[in-house]
Amino acid sequence: KNIVILISGAGSNMAAIVETAQREHWQDTLGARVAAVVSNRPQASGLAWADGRGIATAVVDHQHFTRREDFDAALARAVAAYTPTLVVLAGFMRVLTPVFIGCFAGRMLNIHPSLLPAFPGLNTHQRALDAGCRFAGATVHWVTQELDSGPVVDQAIVPVLPGDDAAALRRRVQSQEHVLYPRAIRAILPTLQAP
Ligand code: GRF
Repeated sequence: KNIVILISGAGSNMAAIVETAQREHWQDTLGARVAAVVSNRPQASGLAWADGRGIATAVVDHQHFTRREDFDAALARAVAAYTPTLVVLAGFMRVLTPVFIGCFAGRMLNIHPSLLPAFPGLNTHQRALDAGCRFAGATVHWVTQELDSGPVVDQAIVPVLPGDDAAALRRRVQSQEHVLYPRAIRAILPTLQAP
């Protein structure tokens, strides 16, 4: 079962998934491997990290497309080339259209840095602080046509501590994301058939 991970930046979640897959021998226990890492940004630092681990990488630069649908079609082709059982969005910062989502319906996950359905969209940590939340966290959910709103697979909760700013809260949430995302993927892989 091939896993394809989509990133736009540092790819710390991608790295956590790759390292967990190696440590837990997902190839033997789940018949699964991270087959490729795909980015919309050529300078995404996660690409070099994945390349250094011997993982195939590809770039579909959104700046080369004027229409979002054309970008999505090219991205879908690049991802489909690796026949993914599971597509994992890990800090992929482009809104995807039905052109892409329709290709991988029921086999695509996203991680969002809030306790959905609270705080969909951007700037989640500052919004949680502004709202006076005592708890924050992250959510892994199925990707559906509506942004940040597919069915929840799993969540991680962290406390909001006195004196937190958005950066401190982001660090605390992200360290839990790195446990949460591999756990969610491990749980759902056995339920998916290879395409
Ligand atoms: C994570 O906080 C994730 O929840 C959000 O984007 C961030 C990506 O970070 N969707 P990284 O690229 O995995 O380090």
